[in-house]
Amino acid sequence: MNPTLNIAVKAARRAGQIINRASLDVDKLRIDVKQQSDYVTEVDRAAEAAILEVLRDAYPTHGILAEESGLAGTRADSDYQWIIDPLDGTTNFIHGLPQYAISIGLAHKGVMTHGVVYDPNRNELFTASKGGGAFMNDKRIRVAKRVKLDEALIGTGFPYRVFEHIDAYLAIFRDVAQRTAGMRRPGAASLDLAWVACGRLDAFWEIGLAPWDMAAGTLLITEAGGLVGDLSGEANYLKTGNIVGGNPKIFSQMLQLIAPHRTATLQA
Ligand code: IPD
Ligand code: CA
Ligand code: CA
Repeated sequence: MNPTLNIAVKAARRAGQIINRASLDVDKLRIDVKQQSDYVTEVDRAAEAAILEVLRDAYPTHGILAEESGLAGTRADSDYQWIIDPLDGTTNFIHGLPQYAISIGLAHKGVMTHGVVYDPNRNELFTASKGGGAFMNDKRIRVAKRVKLDEALIGTGFPYRVFEHIDAYLAIFRDVAQRTAGMRRPGAASLDLAWVACGRLDAFWEIGLAPWDMAAGTLLITEAGGLVGDLSGEANYLKTGNIVGGNPKIFSQMLQLIAPHRTATLQA
Protein backbone atom coordinates (compact mmCIF):
# COMPACT_ATOMS: atom_id res chain seq x y z
CA MET A 1 0.00 0.00 0.00
CA ASN A 2 1.15 3.53 -0.72
CA PRO A 3 2.94 4.86 2.41
CA THR A 4 0.79 8.00 2.64
CA LEU A 5 -2.40 5.96 2.36
CA ASN A 6 -0.98 3.66 5.01
CA ILE A 7 -0.63 6.59 7.42
CA ALA A 8 -4.23 7.60 6.74
CA VAL A 9 -5.36 4.02 7.43
CA LYS A 10 -3.41 3.99 10.70
CA ALA A 11 -5.12 7.23 11.75
CA ALA A 12 -8.57 5.93 10.77
CA ARG A 13 -8.09 2.68 12.70
CA ARG A 14 -6.96 4.57 15.82
CA ALA A 15 -10.11 6.67 15.63
CA GLY A 16 -12.14 3.51 15.05
CA GLN A 17 -10.83 1.99 18.28
CA ILE A 18 -11.87 5.07 20.25
CA ILE A 19 -15.31 5.09 18.65
CA ASN A 20 -15.88 1.34 19.13
CA ARG A 21 -14.94 1.54 22.80
CA ALA A 22 -17.26 4.50 23.36
CA SER A 23 -20.13 2.82 21.48
CA LEU A 24 -20.38 0.24 24.26
CA ASP A 25 -21.84 2.89 26.54
CA VAL A 26 -23.37 5.72 24.54
CA ASP A 27 -25.66 6.70 27.41
CA LYS A 28 -22.67 8.01 29.34
CA LEU A 29 -21.63 10.40 26.54
CA ARG A 30 -21.44 14.13 27.02
CA ILE A 31 -23.26 15.65 24.05
CA ASP A 32 -23.01 19.30 23.01
CA VAL A 33 -25.28 21.01 20.50
CA LYS A 34 -23.33 23.09 17.96
CA GLN A 35 -26.51 24.41 16.36
CA GLN A 36 -29.99 23.03 15.70
CA SER A 37 -29.72 19.25 15.12
CA ASP A 38 -25.92 19.45 14.99
CA TYR A 39 -24.33 17.43 17.77
CA VAL A 40 -20.78 16.83 18.82
CA THR A 41 -19.60 14.43 21.50
CA GLU A 42 -16.37 13.96 23.38
CA VAL A 43 -15.86 10.96 21.08
CA ASP A 44 -15.85 13.13 17.93
CA ARG A 45 -13.18 15.28 19.59
CA ALA A 46 -11.08 12.38 20.90
CA ALA A 47 -11.21 10.60 17.54
CA GLU A 48 -10.13 13.77 15.75
CA ALA A 49 -7.27 14.34 18.19
CA ALA A 50 -6.02 10.79 17.57
CA ILE A 51 -6.16 11.28 13.79
CA LEU A 52 -4.36 14.63 13.94
CA GLU A 53 -1.63 13.16 16.13
CA VAL A 54 -0.87 10.41 13.59
CA LEU A 55 -0.99 12.76 10.59
CA ARG A 56 1.04 15.56 12.19
CA ASP A 57 3.63 13.11 13.35
CA ALA A 58 4.12 11.78 9.80
CA TYR A 59 3.54 15.02 7.88
CA PRO A 60 4.23 18.05 10.09
CA THR A 61 4.16 20.49 7.15
CA HIS A 62 0.83 19.43 5.64
CA GLY A 63 -2.33 21.53 5.91
CA ILE A 64 -5.36 20.17 7.74
CA LEU A 65 -9.08 20.85 7.50
CA ALA A 66 -10.87 18.89 10.20
CA GLU A 67 -14.53 19.15 11.21
CA GLU A 68 -14.05 19.82 14.92
CA SER A 69 -10.91 21.98 14.81
CA GLY A 70 -11.40 23.59 11.39
CA LEU A 71 -8.22 24.98 9.87
CA ALA A 72 -6.67 25.45 13.32
CA GLY A 73 -2.90 25.27 13.26
CA THR A 74 -2.88 24.55 9.55
CA ARG A 75 -0.06 25.44 7.19
CA ALA A 76 -1.44 27.81 4.59
CA ASP A 77 1.69 27.41 2.47
CA SER A 78 1.33 23.66 1.98
CA ASP A 79 0.20 22.11 -1.31
CA TYR A 80 -1.18 19.22 0.72
CA GLN A 81 -4.41 19.33 2.68
CA TRP A 82 -5.92 16.58 4.78
CA ILE A 83 -9.72 16.76 4.95
CA ILE A 84 -11.08 14.91 7.97
CA ASP A 85 -14.39 13.89 9.48
CA PRO A 86 -13.48 11.98 12.66
CA LEU A 87 -17.02 10.65 13.12
CA ASP A 88 -19.42 10.94 10.22
CA GLY A 89 -22.91 10.03 11.36
CA THR A 90 -22.80 11.44 14.89
CA THR A 91 -26.60 11.43 15.21
CA ASN A 92 -26.66 7.69 14.46
CA PHE A 93 -23.80 7.14 16.91
CA ILE A 94 -25.60 8.97 19.72
CA HIS A 95 -28.68 6.81 19.13
CA GLY A 96 -26.70 3.56 19.08
CA LEU A 97 -27.57 3.10 15.41
CA PRO A 98 -24.54 1.32 13.93
CA GLN A 99 -24.04 3.35 10.77
CA TYR A 100 -21.17 5.82 11.01
CA ALA A 101 -17.63 6.13 9.72
CA ILE A 102 -14.29 7.89 9.84
CA SER A 103 -13.40 9.80 6.70
CA ILE A 104 -9.87 10.98 5.84
CA GLY A 105 -8.87 12.40 2.47
CA LEU A 106 -5.72 14.05 1.17
CA ALA A 107 -5.78 16.68 -1.55
CA HIS A 108 -2.69 17.80 -3.43
CA LYS A 109 -3.07 21.22 -5.07
CA GLY A 110 -6.83 20.79 -4.77
CA VAL A 111 -6.94 17.31 -6.35
CA MET A 112 -7.93 14.33 -4.19
CA THR A 113 -5.04 11.88 -4.11
CA HIS A 114 -5.79 9.50 -1.23
CA GLY A 115 -8.98 8.60 0.59
CA VAL A 116 -9.97 6.34 3.48
CA VAL A 117 -13.47 5.68 4.77
CA TYR A 118 -13.53 3.26 7.70
CA ASP A 119 -16.69 1.64 9.04
CA PRO A 120 -15.79 0.50 12.56
CA ASN A 121 -19.02 -1.48 13.02
CA ARG A 122 -18.43 -3.84 10.10
CA ASN A 123 -14.66 -3.46 10.14
CA GLU A 124 -14.86 -2.44 6.48
CA LEU A 125 -11.97 -0.32 5.32
CA PHE A 126 -12.45 1.51 2.02
CA THR A 127 -9.30 2.95 0.44
CA ALA A 128 -8.27 4.63 -2.78
CA SER A 129 -5.25 6.40 -4.22
CA LYS A 130 -5.47 8.41 -7.41
CA GLY A 131 -4.82 6.17 -10.39
CA GLY A 132 -4.58 3.05 -8.23
CA GLY A 133 -8.18 1.86 -8.02
CA ALA A 134 -10.46 1.50 -5.00
CA PHE A 135 -10.49 -1.29 -2.43
CA MET A 136 -12.53 -2.67 0.45
CA ASN A 137 -10.36 -4.59 2.90
CA ASP A 138 -7.75 -5.04 0.15
CA LYS A 139 -10.25 -6.37 -2.37
CA ARG A 140 -10.74 -4.34 -5.53
CA ILE A 141 -14.19 -2.69 -5.71
CA ARG A 142 -16.15 -1.29 -8.63
CA VAL A 143 -19.37 0.65 -9.00
CA ALA A 144 -22.50 -1.34 -9.87
CA LYS A 145 -23.17 -2.22 -13.50
CA ARG A 146 -26.88 -1.47 -13.43
CA VAL A 147 -27.97 0.78 -16.31
CA LYS A 148 -31.72 1.11 -15.84
CA LEU A 149 -32.90 3.83 -13.50
CA ASP A 150 -35.99 1.86 -12.51
CA GLU A 151 -33.71 -0.90 -11.16
CA ALA A 152 -31.37 1.47 -9.33
CA LEU A 153 -31.12 1.81 -5.54
CA ILE A 154 -30.34 5.42 -4.62
CA GLY A 155 -28.84 6.79 -1.41
CA THR A 156 -29.56 10.28 -0.15
CA GLY A 157 -29.42 12.47 2.94
CA PHE A 158 -32.48 14.40 4.09
CA PRO A 159 -32.11 18.06 5.00
CA TYR A 160 -32.25 18.22 8.82
CA ARG A 161 -30.53 21.44 9.83
CA VAL A 162 -30.73 23.95 6.98
CA PHE A 163 -34.07 24.10 5.19
CA GLU A 164 -33.36 26.75 2.58
CA HIS A 165 -33.65 24.23 -0.27
CA ILE A 166 -36.23 21.90 1.25
CA ASP A 167 -38.79 22.48 -1.53
CA ALA A 168 -36.29 21.78 -4.31
CA TYR A 169 -35.04 18.73 -2.37
CA LEU A 170 -38.55 17.33 -1.97
CA ALA A 171 -39.36 17.96 -5.63
CA ILE A 172 -36.27 15.94 -6.64
CA PHE A 173 -37.18 13.31 -4.01
CA ARG A 174 -40.66 12.95 -5.52
CA ASP A 175 -39.20 12.25 -8.97
CA VAL A 176 -36.44 9.93 -7.75
CA ALA A 177 -38.93 7.97 -5.62
CA GLN A 178 -41.17 7.38 -8.61
CA ARG A 179 -38.47 6.54 -11.14
CA THR A 180 -36.09 4.24 -9.21
CA ALA A 181 -36.16 0.95 -7.29
CA GLY A 182 -35.98 2.86 -4.02
CA MET A 183 -34.16 5.31 -1.83
CA ARG A 184 -32.15 4.86 1.38
CA ARG A 185 -31.05 7.40 4.00
CA PRO A 186 -28.43 5.52 6.03
CA GLY A 187 -27.12 8.67 7.77
CA ALA A 188 -23.37 8.87 7.13
CA ALA A 189 -22.55 10.56 3.82
CA SER A 190 -18.97 9.28 3.62
CA LEU A 191 -20.21 5.71 3.94
CA ASP A 192 -22.99 6.34 1.43
CA LEU A 193 -20.31 7.33 -1.07
CA ALA A 194 -18.21 4.28 -0.18
CA TRP A 195 -21.28 2.13 -0.77
CA VAL A 196 -21.71 3.65 -4.22
CA ALA A 197 -18.05 2.81 -4.88
CA CYS A 198 -18.58 -0.86 -3.98
CA GLY A 199 -21.90 -1.13 -5.82
CA ARG A 200 -24.30 -1.47 -2.88
CA LEU A 201 -25.93 1.76 -4.03
CA ASP A 202 -26.18 2.74 -7.69
CA ALA A 203 -26.05 6.46 -6.97
CA PHE A 204 -26.19 8.99 -4.14
CA TRP A 205 -27.23 12.62 -3.94
CA GLU A 206 -27.37 15.18 -1.14
CA ILE A 207 -27.57 18.95 -0.75
CA GLY A 208 -25.55 21.01 1.74
CA LEU A 209 -22.71 18.68 2.70
CA ALA A 210 -19.36 19.80 4.12
CA PRO A 211 -16.05 18.99 2.37
CA TRP A 212 -15.10 16.49 5.10
CA ASP A 213 -18.29 14.47 4.44
CA MET A 214 -17.32 14.04 0.78
CA ALA A 215 -13.56 14.32 0.18
CA ALA A 216 -12.46 10.71 0.70
CA GLY A 217 -15.67 9.15 -0.64
CA THR A 218 -15.52 10.99 -3.95
CA LEU A 219 -12.10 9.50 -4.73
CA LEU A 220 -13.44 6.04 -3.84
CA ILE A 221 -16.18 6.47 -6.44
CA THR A 222 -14.01 7.79 -9.26
CA GLU A 223 -11.36 5.14 -8.60
CA ALA A 224 -14.12 2.50 -8.66
CA GLY A 225 -15.15 3.61 -12.15
CA GLY A 226 -17.97 5.96 -11.16
CA LEU A 227 -18.63 9.65 -11.69
CA VAL A 228 -19.11 12.47 -9.20
CA GLY A 229 -20.41 15.95 -9.83
CA ASP A 230 -22.37 18.83 -8.39
CA LEU A 231 -26.05 19.20 -9.33
CA SER A 232 -25.10 20.26 -12.84
CA GLY A 233 -22.50 17.52 -13.20
CA GLU A 234 -19.56 19.90 -12.82
CA ALA A 235 -16.65 19.50 -10.43
CA ASN A 236 -17.59 22.13 -7.82
CA TYR A 237 -19.19 19.83 -5.24
CA LEU A 238 -16.55 20.35 -2.54
CA LYS A 239 -17.37 24.07 -2.71
CA THR A 240 -21.16 23.99 -3.23
CA GLY A 241 -21.76 21.04 -0.88
CA ASN A 242 -24.25 19.58 -3.36
CA ILE A 243 -23.29 16.23 -4.79
CA VAL A 244 -24.37 13.46 -7.11
CA GLY A 245 -22.27 10.33 -7.49
CA GLY A 246 -22.92 7.03 -9.15
CA ASN A 247 -22.11 4.52 -11.80
CA PRO A 248 -21.77 6.41 -15.11
CA LYS A 249 -25.16 5.43 -16.56
CA ILE A 250 -27.22 6.11 -13.43
CA PHE A 251 -25.22 9.27 -12.67
CA SER A 252 -26.26 10.91 -15.93
CA GLN A 253 -29.90 9.85 -15.51
CA MET A 254 -29.89 11.31 -11.98
CA LEU A 255 -28.59 14.62 -13.34
CA GLN A 256 -31.44 14.67 -15.86
CA LEU A 257 -33.97 14.09 -13.07
CA ILE A 258 -32.44 16.88 -10.98
CA ALA A 259 -32.04 19.46 -13.77
CA PRO A 260 -35.64 20.80 -13.84
CA HIS A 261 -35.54 21.39 -10.08
CA ARG A 262 -32.43 23.55 -9.93
CA THR A 263 -33.50 26.99 -8.75
CA ALA A 264 -31.91 30.44 -8.90
CA THR A 265 -30.23 29.79 -5.53
CA LEU A 266 -29.68 26.08 -6.03
CA GLN A 267 -27.79 26.00 -9.29
CA ALA A 268 -25.09 23.49 -8.67
C1 IPD B 1 -23.62 14.21 8.65
C2 IPD B 1 -23.84 12.89 7.95
C3 IPD B 1 -25.21 12.84 7.34
C4 IPD B 1 -25.46 13.96 6.39
C5 IPD B 1 -25.16 15.28 7.06
C6 IPD B 1 -23.77 15.32 7.66
P1 IPD B 1 -22.00 14.40 10.81
O1 IPD B 1 -22.32 14.29 9.20
O2 IPD B 1 -22.90 12.67 6.94
O3 IPD B 1 -25.43 11.65 6.62
O4 IPD B 1 -26.79 13.94 5.95
O5 IPD B 1 -25.32 16.32 6.14
O6 IPD B 1 -23.57 16.55 8.30
O7 IPD B 1 -22.49 15.73 11.26
O8 IPD B 1 -22.65 13.26 11.46
O9 IPD B 1 -20.50 14.32 10.80
CA1 CA C 1 -20.05 14.46 8.54
CA1 CA D 1 -18.65 14.50 11.98
